[in-house]
Amino acid sequence: MSRKKIKFKVLFVILIMFLIIILVYIDKENHNININVVNDYKYILVNKKNKLSSDFIPDNLVEVKHCSIDKFYLEEETANAYEEMCLDLINEGLNISITSAYRSYEEQKDLYLTYLKLYGKSYVDKYVAVPGHSEHQTGLAIDLESLECDIFRNSKEYLWVRENAHNYGFIIRYQKGKENITGYSAEEWHIRYVGKKAAEYIYKNNITFEEYYDFVFKIVD
Ligand code: DAL
Ligand code: ZN
Repeated sequence: MSRKKIKFKVLFVILIMFLIIILVYIDKENHNININVVNDYKYILVNKKNKLSSDFIPDNLVEVKHCSIDKFYLEEETANAYEEMCLDLINEGLNISITSAYRSYEEQKDLYLTYLKLYGKSYVDKYVAVPGHSEHQTGLAIDLESLECDIFRNSKEYLWVRENAHNYGFIIRYQKGKENITGYSAEEWHIRYVGKKAAEYIYKNNITFEEYYDFVFKIVD
């Protein structure tokens, strides 16, 4: 074999080894990131299939101090993110408040039974979670209202939240067109804290939290 051919072969082998090292490194990085993701409280998946026990109470609930007319509680990281977001909303001349945040199992049960009595089963199936299946029990979910416009989806506040909430770690959890995945009709007012990294991914790829969760577990498996 000529010296030129040997040199080429050596270079080729080095290049392949280099590529393998890079691929192993990228794979390891992905696994590290996503194992952390799965163990993190803010990624807890609560939906029609995943239930919390009736005695589950988040251990770090705090009272929301700003942008809330009534007294509400949230998980601490969520409360801080909400307050950061609401101060920026105020700076934009917008006016927002909370209609619901943390709800205990018993509060969700009362709500569910009240709505069931008032509007019937097909309504609650679309809008109200069965007790134990509500994200509000995690302290990571907030129902918003605009103080300028009665219908939230028609408000300037909603338009701002829709385009900016992910920068604070929130997603609009129940979107139009995704009912078959989330199990609920669109709720523009219900935001869920998942942290900035997940929120940005979910927003940019226009996916649901369920799809993000599947994607994360697929990588970890
Ligand atoms: N409205 C949402 C689905 C809940 O009750 O948690
Ligand atoms: Zn809600």
